[in-house]
Amino acid sequence: MANPLQAENPRRAVRIGICGLGTVGSGTVNVMARNFDEIAARCGRPVEIVQIGARRDNPACDTSQLDTTREIFDVANNPDVDILVELIGGTTVARELVLAAIENGKHVVTANKALIAEHGNELFAAAADKGVTIAYEAAVAGGIPIIKSLREGLVGNRIQWLAGIINGTGNYILTEMREKGRGFAEALSQAQQLGYAEADPTFDVEGIDAAHKLVIMASLAFAMPLAFDKVYTEGISGVSSEDIRYADELGYRIKHLGIARRTEQGVELRVHPTLIPQRRLIANVNGVMNAVLVNGDAVGPTLYYGAGAGARGTAPAGGGAYGAVVGPPA
Ligand code: HSE
Repeated sequence: MANPLQAENPRRAVRIGICGLGTVGSGTVNVMARNFDEIAARCGRPVEIVQIGARRDNPACDTSQLDTTREIFDVANNPDVDILVELIGGTTVARELVLAAIENGKHVVTANKALIAEHGNELFAAAADKGVTIAYEAAVAGGIPIIKSLREGLVGNRIQWLAGIINGTGNYILTEMREKGRGFAEALSQAQQLGYAEADPTFDVEGIDAAHKLVIMASLAFAMPLAFDKVYTEGISGVSSEDIRYADELGYRIKHLGIARRTEQGVELRVHPTLIPQRRLIANVNGVMNAVLVNGDAVGPTLYYGAGAGARGTAPAGGGAYGAVVGPPA
């Protein structure tokens, strides 16, 4: 189906409504203001924020010149909004909000990995029915364009496996414990202060966030439905400072990996702490950085690396997603 935004008038401004003004929402507002001209040039037309829906303001961004509402469903019902950007998190209200936007013929951009992993099959079907797009680049590996790479760049390959450090908070905690001798609780509290952790940090330290991201990547790499309930999930909460020290002495790093692998029985999905020889590139991905290795039959191994959490990690990916909806310059 033709993209209605392109068909109607390829030069008119794209009007977006942002729901949620937390770390990612405020970062998105700031990046869009700072890079307004750049985004307009690269998308072929301006991308304007016409409304913000958020329960409260966030001093991290200036919304004084913008139309704001405390009722996020106003944004889903606003006829001036072409694209609703869902950044409220969670899976209940967020699901209803996204379905309402789709019902009203709006494209959706979301950074919500839990929503896509747990309700993506339903949401994509609803979007297909309405001929709109759901873009979710920022949901996986923060600022790394891994969705675009899997969906388009690597599409000619039969993917054999992929493996990645896909939770910035967990990687930050393991790095702080190893490099600075910090305790688990202290490192987690720092990650929370830096805006890396989920509202419920159990998702980060028990591997649930990584499992969400893994099934999203696997759905694209292996052309399979989203299968969150099939992932073997283990976090880093059981990793002690002694484990990290002994691993170091033996020439290894402990990294929390998400792994998806083609087997004769089907696709294996697992997230858990892993011992990796220190000389490997992925063993040297530290702090909040993420990295994903993808092995395709034609290209062989490829590696994607970048900021995995926080406003810096996710807001630009949100920006990138507009390109996916709007398309290249006409
Ligand atoms: N809490 C997530 C992380 C945020 O630490 O990776 C980015 O998805």
